[in-house]
Amino acid sequence: MPSYFITGAARGIGYEFIRQYSSDPNNTVIGTVRDKAATIKKISEDAELKSRSNIHILEADITNYDALKNAAAETATITGGSLDYIIANAGIVTMFDAYDPIGALGDRPDEITKTLRLLFETHVIANVHLFNLLMPLILHGKAKKVILISSGFADPVFTAEFDITPGSLYASTKAAANMIVAKYSAQYKKDGVLFLAVCPGMVEVGHYKDATPEQIANVGGLVTKFKEYSTRFSGPITPEESVSAVRSVIANASIEKGNAGDFLSHFGTKTWL
Ligand SMILES: NC(=O)c1ccc[n+]([C@@H]2O[C@H](COP(=O)([O-])OP(=O)(O)OC[C@H]3O[C@@H](n4cnc5c(N)ncnc54)[C@H](OP(=O)(O)O)[C@@H]3O)[C@@H](O)[C@H]2O)c1
Repeated sequence: MPSYFITGAARGIGYEFIRQYSSDPNNTVIGTVRDKAATIKKISEDAELKSRSNIHILEADITNYDALKNAAAETATITGGSLDYIIANAGIVTMFDAYDPIGALGDRPDEITKTLRLLFETHVIANVHLFNLLMPLILHGKAKKVILISSGFADPVFTAEFDITPGSLYASTKAAANMIVAKYSAQYKKDGVLFLAVCPGMVEVGHYKDATPEQIANVGGLVTKFKEYSTRFSGPITPEESVSAVRSVIANASIEKGNAGDFLSHFGTKTWL
């Protein structure tokens, strides 16, 4: 009975992880969300998911240590004290830095500080606590795989080569989270635990639905650069396509293949799009 613990399961890529992993009744799938009642309602109205008894929804704002601690304890009760996979998916795509280059944000210093603190708290601090709290369960698990959902925006080589200016604050905290993954890997590889950061690709989940025409033009410029970077890139993919590709990367990656502490795309390579 493989068990999965997925954060940010209420919508987007996280909800799709719940949908795909729970399609196998042998899997135990635990999703954490900020509003449990709303997610239970959403699942009860989802024709495909409503009858799946292997889905467990727990409530935890991942920036709240006590809530994470309770979620870890509830997970131990559900699984009997072990856990096979963590998918640290919860994240925030901030709109403050989504379009403009970092230097153009300089006239709003308070917002830079506020946004960076929120991003660091969510992508880095919360995941450090999450990994520490769940590590005893992972060490008792069979698969022993800890996956961080990262972003190709965190690749400094790609950023420098293609002058990728948007998402500066977001990308910096994802890069820091990748280093956290590498540090955990350095400690736990000897125990057989695979830590891996994976970019899900560019996925349509509605992040840019409120963009102004000028902001849409900026995104258009970015898409042009993406097409220069990768000839196979033809636009955002669906959560379904992304999760199915990331699941295959997770299934294939191993310490033996040299993936410990690595940062891979949904293709299982260093090509992000
Ligand atoms: N979409 C893309 O193109 C893309 C590309 C690269 C990487 N990613 C990464 O993929 C992951 C999933 O993003 P998505 O695209 O599916 O975005 P999304 O639709 O905005 O979903 C993000 C999820 O994270 C949850 N979350 C945020 N802060 C949280 C907190 N403090 N505590 C608990 N849950 C929290 C949200 O909860 P609520 O529902 O309560 O708000 C939401 O369920 C993120 O880590 C993102 O950075 C996405």
